[in-house]
Amino acid sequence: MASTYCNSASPSSRNIYYNHKNRWKRNPCDRYGYSSSNNNNNINCNKYSKSVRARRSNPAPISKFTTCYCWPLFKHDFNPSFFTSHFPTNPQLPSLLLPRSGAGGDGVPAMASDKLRHVDSMTTLPSRAGKIPKLNALILGEALASEEDHLIIPSQDFSEQAHVSSPAEYLEMYRRSIEDPAGFWSDFASQFYWKEKWGQTVYSENLDIRKGSINIEWFKGGITNICYNCLDANIAAGHGEKIAIYWEGNEPGVDATLTYKQLLQRVCQLANYLRDVGVKKGDAVLIYLPMLMELPIAMLACARIGAVHSVVFAGFSSESLAQRIIDCKPKIVITCNAVQRGSKTIYLKDIVDAAIAESVRNETAVDICLTYENVSALKKESTKWVEGRDTWWQDVIPKYSDTCDLEWVDAEDPLFLLYTSGSTGKPKGVLHTTGGYMVYTATTFKFAFDYKPSDVYWCTADCGWITGHSYVTYGPLLNGATVIVFEGAPNYPDPGRCWEIVDKYKVSIFYTAPTLVRSLMREGNEHVTRYSRKSLRVLGSVGEPINPSAWRWFFNLVGDSRCPISDTWWQTETGGFMITPLPGAWPQKPGSATFPFFGIQPVVVDEKGKEIEGECSGYLCVKSSWPGAFRTLYGDHERYETTYFSAFPGYYFSGDGCNRDKDGYIWLTGRVDDVINVSGHRIGTAEVESALVSHPQCAEAAVVGVEHEVKGQGIYAFVTLVEGVPYSDDLRKSLIMTVRKQIGAFAAPDKIHWAPGLPKTRSGKIMRRILRKIASKQLDELGDISTLADPGVVEELISLADS
Ligand code: WTA
Repeated sequence: MASTYCNSASPSSRNIYYNHKNRWKRNPCDRYGYSSSNNNNNINCNKYSKSVRARRSNPAPISKFTTCYCWPLFKHDFNPSFFTSHFPTNPQLPSLLLPRSGAGGDGVPAMASDKLRHVDSMTTLPSRAGKIPKLNALILGEALASEEDHLIIPSQDFSEQAHVSSPAEYLEMYRRSIEDPAGFWSDFASQFYWKEKWGQTVYSENLDIRKGSINIEWFKGGITNICYNCLDANIAAGHGEKIAIYWEGNEPGVDATLTYKQLLQRVCQLANYLRDVGVKKGDAVLIYLPMLMELPIAMLACARIGAVHSVVFAGFSSESLAQRIIDCKPKIVITCNAVQRGSKTIYLKDIVDAAIAESVRNETAVDICLTYENVSALKKESTKWVEGRDTWWQDVIPKYSDTCDLEWVDAEDPLFLLYTSGSTGKPKGVLHTTGGYMVYTATTFKFAFDYKPSDVYWCTADCGWITGHSYVTYGPLLNGATVIVFEGAPNYPDPGRCWEIVDKYKVSIFYTAPTLVRSLMREGNEHVTRYSRKSLRVLGSVGEPINPSAWRWFFNLVGDSRCPISDTWWQTETGGFMITPLPGAWPQKPGSATFPFFGIQPVVVDEKGKEIEGECSGYLCVKSSWPGAFRTLYGDHERYETTYFSAFPGYYFSGDGCNRDKDGYIWLTGRVDDVINVSGHRIGTAEVESALVSHPQCAEAAVVGVEHEVKGQGIYAFVTLVEGVPYSDDLRKSLIMTVRKQIGAFAAPDKIHWAPGLPKTRSGKIMRRILRKIASKQLDELGDISTLADPGVVEELISLADS
């Protein structure tokens, strides 16, 4: 019988102030945020394009990456004896904190094997501590974190009950995961149900473009089904009556629940329908739904029959949706008629209608549009309808049987496609396969959140993004967790909504984005303190670097200083967490994602792609594969290789910059490519630029990211108008509307800066470095502008900044 993961794993203007010793103090180091083609319907990820030789010999120049927004290195002094007195349960710990025996005379540890160099640097934490002027650490639950507290140490109680309870335990597991990845991951994979076990080779990989095509495979030959492992296996293990989903609607008081058994029945009905209308293994199904229960149901139904889901965030415009339909050519589109977001109604079906019409103009027909009637937002009668193509979900799905045979798939068969922004105007279809992704999301979920079967888990992300795939749907359900799916807006009807939901469902793990934390900080503490929040145990953050003041507010106020924060760094491409605290193991530093997850070998490289050791700043890359890694970009393996594996041959390049401090902690500093991270959403500057220039009165546009108090980064657009067109506020609005219409409201520029000309080199390249400085008003840091074709342009731009 099925052996499920969960069973074997365990039985059964204020924001810049913080409260320091009851005095409100301004945080000096916090400037609001930072102190510083394949046309085939059948998707087969093995159908890679082979024409990569030419590009390989001419890798992307590093200079194309813009300089990173640097976060000053975190400097602190630390007293190792603090651990001895406060961490008696971890006798190994103090020795880990000091240079190991065999170290060089100056206290520098002897290097381990090349593979384990960075593990070695961790074991010396914090090496060369020097003199200790003051104690700057606190223990979870014992005090509020102030600006001086640079280290938050797990309490004895927390550590004792945690899956990984000390750095020593972590290091032992980590060491094995690096030295014996096959054995390490096979052990975790064995906790799932496999109809047939994978072959002799647990994984095979080539991440070095110089040695041939990039290739990653895990558990090939293993036959399984992720939907089975999420649902059937948990039911077989006796958890059929456990709540799988608590659904909370936009309006307080509108809610629903599904047990694991009921969820399986719903999934089976939809899966039977999909099969009945001709969806087969490998076919794409496009899902454009808000956070209704039907969204994870649709994803799981696809997985059950081996179809490949492509969820498009229901905030994307019809143009963006059309682009994705044309790329993946789905047999069917699943949507709903409308959704209520806060007090606004969004007519999703109208957007889908326009997108399908556009796809048809591009020779991509969609035969069926399955539409869920979201009664609370819009009645059937008021929904526009295309006879013959459109079907009401509620009319057909309940008629189908609530049991459905599984399609057993290979571990390397595709599970889903998810489009993400890159450095060009065309979104990339990130493709994930089944087996490795399953093992990786489940394992990361369990360890990074220290998940226990009694937890109630809420991730505020939308399933339209990777976080909603890995950590609303698959990761938690594979662990048999109870998950909250929230349809509404976190500030509706008021900014206390999140904490009301936490109290209502007794949420114990709360995972969100820094942008939400910052926006709630602005609303005042009383919205938080009027709720109990005592069920909370672990907090999580994702999407962008969390600035220390937001970290402290989240920690002190929301978590009452007793909940560790898992600041998880990862990406659509990585499938799951890459660098993350393990809450019971590592002391945390506010704002640092800490250390790598098991099996992950992060490296920091310089501009030339040379690995840098110790305390440093550079580009964040990853050495060797991990089970959750994406396998290709759909229909464009060449772009996969050039985007991620050519800049620094031998590594996966994340596109992020980072600092590593003297203790080995990793601090993400943001994107170093032409991608802007707005409220945790990745937006390519090229996408926004191409939307702007499609406006008839826009001649040229250059978009850069600027720091934004709430969103992390805002979109700042320099726009050159067609000759003779006067500047006006109406035109500004119309340009913003064009971007909203073409991409979606979340990509709307925060600022349009009129630009009679753009700073260009003599060869015509736009100097974004200069634009970035002008946008952020760092005029004394413009640097050398003498190489510009027309240096006068800079002064002109500066004079128009506030016009
Ligand atoms: C950023 C979201 C700092 C980063 C899961 C990355 C982060 C991009 C963090 C991926 C974090 C995500 N700290 N930065 N904890 N998490 N990022 O693909 O720039 O939507 O490259 O995946 O978000 O965004 P994506």
